[in-house]
Amino acid sequence: MDNNRSQWGSRIGFILAAAGSAVGLGNIWKFPGRAYEGGGGSFLIIYVLIVIILGAPLMITELSVGRAGKSNIVSTFKNLGHKEFSWVGWVGVLGAFIITCYYSHVGGWVLRYVFAYALHAPEIYADSPAYFYDMLGAHADGTTSIPWVALAFAAAFIALNGIVIIKGVSGGIEKFNKFGMPALFIMLIILLIRTVTLPGSAEGLKYLLTFDWSKVTFSTILSALGQAFYSLSIGMAIMITYGSYLPKNENIAKNTALICAMDTLVAILAGFIIVPGVFATLGADQIGKGGGFAFVSLAQMFQSMPGGRFFGALFYLLLLFAALTSCISLIESIVAFLTEKMGLERKKSTIWLCVVLFAIGCLYTCTQAAIPMKGIWLDGTNGVTFPAFCDFMEYMTDRIMIPICALGCCIFVGWVWKPEQVVKEVEACGDKFRIAGIYKILIKFIAPVAILMILIMSFTSGITLS
Ligand code: PFF
Repeated sequence: MDNNRSQWGSRIGFILAAAGSAVGLGNIWKFPGRAYEGGGGSFLIIYVLIVIILGAPLMITELSVGRAGKSNIVSTFKNLGHKEFSWVGWVGVLGAFIITCYYSHVGGWVLRYVFAYALHAPEIYADSPAYFYDMLGAHADGTTSIPWVALAFAAAFIALNGIVIIKGVSGGIEKFNKFGMPALFIMLIILLIRTVTLPGSAEGLKYLLTFDWSKVTFSTILSALGQAFYSLSIGMAIMITYGSYLPKNENIAKNTALICAMDTLVAILAGFIIVPGVFATLGADQIGKGGGFAFVSLAQMFQSMPGGRFFGALFYLLLLFAALTSCISLIESIVAFLTEKMGLERKKSTIWLCVVLFAIGCLYTCTQAAIPMKGIWLDGTNGVTFPAFCDFMEYMTDRIMIPICALGCCIFVGWVWKPEQVVKEVEACGDKFRIAGIYKILIKFIAPVAILMILIMSFTSGITLS
């Protein structure tokens, strides 16, 4: 074990960095659409309950394993005396690697939109679907080409991540989040004031504050479950890495509560920005989720509101900060693995990793429209299918790697390392872990069953986490 490892410089720095990892594109462009589908207030209640009952205990688990093992996500299991569980870490590293390949490219598209809004918003306004697909290499005349602009911005986005990571845990990641997270909250508040004061937004607000239980089905619960995992950055062992930089006197349970509260608050605020905003401008039936929604429908929403150019630029800047702080955590957990397990130097491994991530991520951007490369998939509803390679990359992480890594962590802690060790780790700061009894039941029984359900459902009905 390396006793000279980096540590967070301050409690608030750690909390903001972990919240920065959690608050990402998922909160802003996935959560509002899911909340709309799940009946507004009813989805919000289910989501918050899932965060409290499953999300928080899993985050406590990952942070405790990380702090106790004091190492990267693969070596941590060996340090805790269970080398046979290193596979959980390998799944985590590989999953984080694949997610980063595409997350960083989407971050590049967001960066492109920040500039586009600031410099030539009328070009987007002229035809927002055409602008978006043109950026991805599919042109209005039916031709396709390599999306050089999107690729160049992805390279710039990855370089930004690399610069922060090379500066180190407290000197780079912590510093960036200390500035980025408050900035993100300020942007959220400004956008919230804008959309809830639009004429016609009251209907959207009402929708989110009423409980339409008729829209709640079993798949709503699975959707909330998947969203909570993805949103809290659970299941990629990111929190194991971030926990490994945490000093012993820090109260893991209290910090987890704050991180989960921040992440959920951002998701709910995003819901209260987007749902009323779309109701007031485009109409309720235009609410969706994901990249197409964020780059096309939301661009149309900003177009239809007073001051839309300013608020649009602010919105994509908000997305940029959210994407950066999450992507940094993903890259850091791979860098920690490369430096500690492979013995590579931090600066060199960050640079090389960024180059490789960019190169593989090019497949993600290029297979959106420009290159017809396919993956292969099998699920109970659709049988064997050949999804676009970009979708295949997301299926691999959302449907297989995140649930398997999360399940591996639960089994490891619940049945092998034992929940008592987590309780000991939480109490190492001198405070009592008040919900230790409930935690043990959750981690041994409830969490593994819920994760298994996600895993099975993704192969039977093709639901997806993110
Ligand atoms: N939590 C991030 C989001 O909501 O967009 C995404 C993410 C980051 C997932 C890091 C997993 C992860 F390890």
